[in-house]
Amino acid sequence: MQRLIIKGGKRLGGELTVQGAKNSALPILAACVLASGEVRLSNIPALSDVYAAIRIMNSLGVKTRFSNGVVTADASDISQVSVEEELMRRMRSSIVFLGAVLARTGECRLSFPGGCELGPRPIDMHLRALRQMGVVINEKHGELICESPHGIRGAVINLPFPSVGATENIMLCAALAEGETVINNAAREPEIDDLGRFLNKMGARVIGGSSGTVRIKGVKKLHGCEYSVMPDRICAATFMSAAAAAGGEIVLNGARAADLGAVNEVFRQAGCIVGEDRDRIFFSARTPPRAVRNITTLPYPGFPTDAQAPVMAMLCKAKGTSVVTETIFSSRFRHVDELARMGADIKTEGRTAVITGADKLYGASVVAPDLRGGAALVCAALAADGESCVSNVELIDRGYERIEKTFAALGADIKRENR
Ligand code: UD1
Repeated sequence: MQRLIIKGGKRLGGELTVQGAKNSALPILAACVLASGEVRLSNIPALSDVYAAIRIMNSLGVKTRFSNGVVTADASDISQVSVEEELMRRMRSSIVFLGAVLARTGECRLSFPGGCELGPRPIDMHLRALRQMGVVINEKHGELICESPHGIRGAVINLPFPSVGATENIMLCAALAEGETVINNAAREPEIDDLGRFLNKMGARVIGGSSGTVRIKGVKKLHGCEYSVMPDRICAATFMSAAAAAGGEIVLNGARAADLGAVNEVFRQAGCIVGEDRDRIFFSARTPPRAVRNITTLPYPGFPTDAQAPVMAMLCKAKGTSVVTETIFSSRFRHVDELARMGADIKTEGRTAVITGADKLYGASVVAPDLRGGAALVCAALAADGESCVSNVELIDRGYERIEKTFAALGADIKRENR
């Protein structure tokens, strides 16, 4: 068990380079299963979720190497069609391997993805779409047994909600299907465009990117290629939240402001200065933050659910009262009780939280409840008076590469301890 010890109250300053996006790297790693040839991916963050995806790839017979942010993967001799339950349980996004393995081999066996830290995460839209494409799916004792006795065919799929995971699974399955697939009401997150670009580099025919309608013309075979994964917009939002709460000026190299429209709008309302370059953000919080208009999490281009917790940490120090409504997941306020231990004034009712900013937060011993909730506690601890101890760091490591090194480089007093 590891924990972070943070002595808060220091302003942050300096430059950092934003890591590659976890939410893009994971479906792109799954997509490597589609290629007959070697893929070389760069800007891959060293995260426990990435290692979990690589273990799944290895278990399928994909040859992989990972060092210094570069993954090489060769799925020419893919030999397995099933993913062990233990590997599926490690990471929810393991479900995107379903579309990829089906497309490549015509069959797949895996269990429902595990855990449930944010509330129920059904996959009914994924399965309905795959059935429309000719996949026969039997569910037995928590296992999904999928076959395609008559091949996988393109289809017109109208998603009832722009699900990120379902859009990715359909794109992966459609890349090698017979004929054209059209996804209406597709997710528009920038990671969808990144996946489409990567598939096209392997020889796929995907158009529509993040437009809400994705068209995929199936091809017979995909080949190896080189690709660099997009920067992580949620990490960028987290670092800005910390700087807004603690005060300071930071430069985020590699960050794409265009992907952060709704988030940067909130920081500007809070009185922060957000300067935008093509692949850089200059962020300055010279005065304590102010309360902001209502924030409601929504599919992209709305405010991202993943940034809700870190931004809430900033609002705990904002002058006035702010309201945050979470519409994507039913159980995504688990950081609230932990923030309260640091002196935050937050009242929740159902999916709405009312945050009244406090002049001061105080160091406390807190437990990361989930990945982004844990990052929020780090942001609050950096802005709090006195020492905090954040335990359950393993959850934060799922999405942030050595978070303590990043913040220490910005002048924070933060270290990791083994218990
Ligand atoms: C979601 C986020 C994504 C984020 C990721 C990790 C949205 C829209 N998606 O992606 O930005 O990076 O979590 O935190 O913000 N649903 C169903 N049936 C399905 C699939 C989804 O009912 O088959 C529902 C879910 O219960 C949830 C919503 O749709 O309420 C969000 O789904 P989805 O986008 O699929 O979630 P993720 O892919 O996990």
